[in-house]
Amino acid sequence: MKDLDIHIRVSVKQKQELTDSEHQLMDEACRATYRSYAPYSHFSVGAAVELEDGTIVTGSNQENAAYPSGLCAERTAVFYANSRYPELAIRKICIAARGVDGEFGANPITPCGACRQVLLEAEQRSGHPIKIMLCSTQSIYFVSSVKDLLPLSFDDSFLTLDV
Ligand code: THU
Repeated sequence: MKDLDIHIRVSVKQKQELTDSEHQLMDEACRATYRSYAPYSHFSVGAAVELEDGTIVTGSNQENAAYPSGLCAERTAVFYANSRYPELAIRKICIAARGVDGEFGANPITPCGACRQVLLEAEQRSGHPIKIMLCSTQSIYFVSSVKDLLPLSFDDSFLTLDV
């Protein structure tokens, strides 16, 4: 038997270390939390997506009384970006959240599994890594590719396997 060790690198910055464009993307993600519709969870998530030409598109979580019919902020933003600007690749996504107390949290918010899967396909479609910024009041986590968030992932290459 042998073990496969899988490592990912998460770079951690303090707010004052952010570049101007990172600051702007984080502001957009934070602002998007106020456009969330989350009457059931009271957890308001905002995502800001930066496209290859610098355009920023935002999304927020949108809930529904039939719970599974809602959608996370990340997928709202990615699907909107791909439907409004199908020719522009996504280069970055920044995610922020406010908890039931209405405040931004001290721990970085991380995307759920389904959002990681959707981000992975967006990354693979464009052939360029998508950088991920995960925000909190204390620090901001940076991950340099969606692949890092989804080790041993499933993608379309499996669909072409000979059986
Ligand atoms: N949510 C997101 O929008 N993004 C995530 O990455 C995790 C969870 C939303 C879904 C639901 O509206 C609420 O947060 C509570 O799970």
